[in-house]
Amino acid sequence: MTVTDPATLVEDLAATRQRTLDLVAHLPTADLERQIAPIMSPLVWDLGHIAAYEDLWLVHRHTGTELLRPDLAALYDAFETPRAVRGDLEILRHADAVAYLDGVRERTLAAIATHGVDPTIHEMVLRHELQHTETMRQAMAIAGLLPPGEPDLPPLRGPDGWLHVAAGTHALGAPAAGFAYDNERPRHGVHVNAYMIARRPVTNATWLAFVEGGGYVRREWWSAEGWAWKEEYDITHHPAVVDGAADAPACHLSWFEAEALARWRGARLPTEAEWEKATGHLDGVGMIWEWTASTFGGYPGFRAHPYREYSEVFFGDAYRVLRGGSWATAPRVATTTFRNWDLPERRQLFAGVRLARDPESEEQS
Ligand code: AVJ
Ligand code: FE
Repeated sequence: MTVTDPATLVEDLAATRQRTLDLVAHLPTADLERQIAPIMSPLVWDLGHIAAYEDLWLVHRHTGTELLRPDLAALYDAFETPRAVRGDLEILRHADAVAYLDGVRERTLAAIATHGVDPTIHEMVLRHELQHTETMRQAMAIAGLLPPGEPDLPPLRGPDGWLHVAAGTHALGAPAAGFAYDNERPRHGVHVNAYMIARRPVTNATWLAFVEGGGYVRREWWSAEGWAWKEEYDITHHPAVVDGAADAPACHLSWFEAEALARWRGARLPTEAEWEKATGHLDGVGMIWEWTASTFGGYPGFRAHPYREYSEVFFGDAYRVLRGGSWATAPRVATTTFRNWDLPERRQLFAGVRLARDPESEEQS
């Protein structure tokens, strides 16, 4: 989706903001201002950051006007101010953060009136806010602060079993027209060998079978890195899986756990290309982010645009790619070519796993 018409853009900006404010409307100020976990920002930091990002791109960069609050730029820059220290800083308190959002929005609307719409930049800022509401939900989930009805993970009802996909070329990535993040381009042909991919994500029931079968004890199912992580943090079970409905997708899995479960099943994680190629035929897409085997890198011919820090600084072997989107992801963000990423030990994401395997290994188990 790319909006070029100013009236539609203004409506979409308003609807996105309402969605953000509704999410935290039930929370007392104390819960908004406290740091919930070392890897998460206080919720009120996200609010100030959403405002600062909007002012930077839709006012300062779009029109050349000075920032509304230049004094806050460093505080709300995700790179200058890592998550762990955000609770100790003099960030805006609840009422001031909301006033900052309002103040910036007024400037944004004026900038649209005078300078028009930049379809790429406006879409990027809209989706930035939508993405931050998912991050906020992660913090809220950790603290038990999600609103009623969330998380929304009903049992899977589609068919179980494997989808067989023939070998062939897949056009990986987003087409040249319309909005996409830089890391989704350029679209390029990738040869994919024949493979099998599970029609459904792994359920809580399957996860519990893994645990009861010695999942956290059997060294052979884990990578060296995954085992070291498990030992260091003394991880013996998965708390979220125990709480979920048996036939609902397992959620809050780390990549290390997903990989161990796959090995237990004689399977593996799908590559990004395998995932994207099969996506139209899969059940449960959009309920939980799905970890892939792929590390986060630029496609051949990658060009950073327009915001260099969005993707490029995370490229390398450290981050793993997730695909699909979760119950907490806005549909506007969760396109079939969208690439999410995080570190393999992270469990705060609404992430699970869909297994893949090579056809030759079908007879073996
Ligand atoms: C795409 C979800 C990994 O939260 O780090 C938000 C999105 N980038 N602000 C992140 C993002 C800058 C990003 N993820
Ligand atoms: Fe951000």
